[in-house]
Amino acid sequence: MSEAKRLAGEKAIDYVEDGMIVGVGTGSTVAYFIEALGRIKGRIAGAVSSSEQSTKRLKELGIEVLDANAAGPLKLYVDGADECDPHKRLIKGGGAALTREKIIAEASETFVCIIDPAKQVPVLGRFPLPVEVIPMARSLVARRILALTGGQPVWRQGVVTDNGNWILDVHNLSITDPVAMETELNQIPGVVSVGLFARRPADIVIVGGEPPRVL
Ligand code: A5P
Repeated sequence: MSEAKRLAGEKAIDYVEDGMIVGVGTGSTVAYFIEALGRIKGRIAGAVSSSEQSTKRLKELGIEVLDANAAGPLKLYVDGADECDPHKRLIKGGGAALTREKIIAEASETFVCIIDPAKQVPVLGRFPLPVEVIPMARSLVARRILALTGGQPVWRQGVVTDNGNWILDVHNLSITDPVAMETELNQIPGVVSVGLFARRPADIVIVGGEPPRVL
């Protein structure tokens, strides 16, 4: 599977233009994109990173990491996903980086999502839906999610996000209306981010393979 991830990650370099500040996601597929970006680092102005993990590797490769506030609107964001439906709507947050990923996706003109074929699903929800919560609201949010969706929220114990928050993973969902669910769960007090990228889906999806498929 990592060969498919590598092929997707390297294909995303096609979307990098000279002088760009590139939005960079998180995860094992993006890791290949970061390595490829390192090979053309002289062509770009820098990166805005979605996690401490990606920041570390970008800096090791000599790529300047810029603050999102200073960088302003971005032309390109490249990131992976945990699930992708036929409308390019995504579940993300398996690596607990969903909030910063969502901020960069929103700030970007074009979101290129890089996945291996196993991430493609007809309907989102087989992968447990990550929800980042303020720690004191964990129990309240879990009760509300159960009542609203019927899904089973499970606390990802031991994981603290880069923002100092906790993650609930919601199991047993079949998300037929991801925009509605994203909107509804966003309203629960204490929810920081919902790992549904449906209101702002990917623009382009690259499915790793020989050759990669661009959707
Ligand atoms: C990070 O929180 C996630 O949203 C990642 O984008 C996702 O988990 C990436 O998956 P891979 O590690 O399989 O690329």
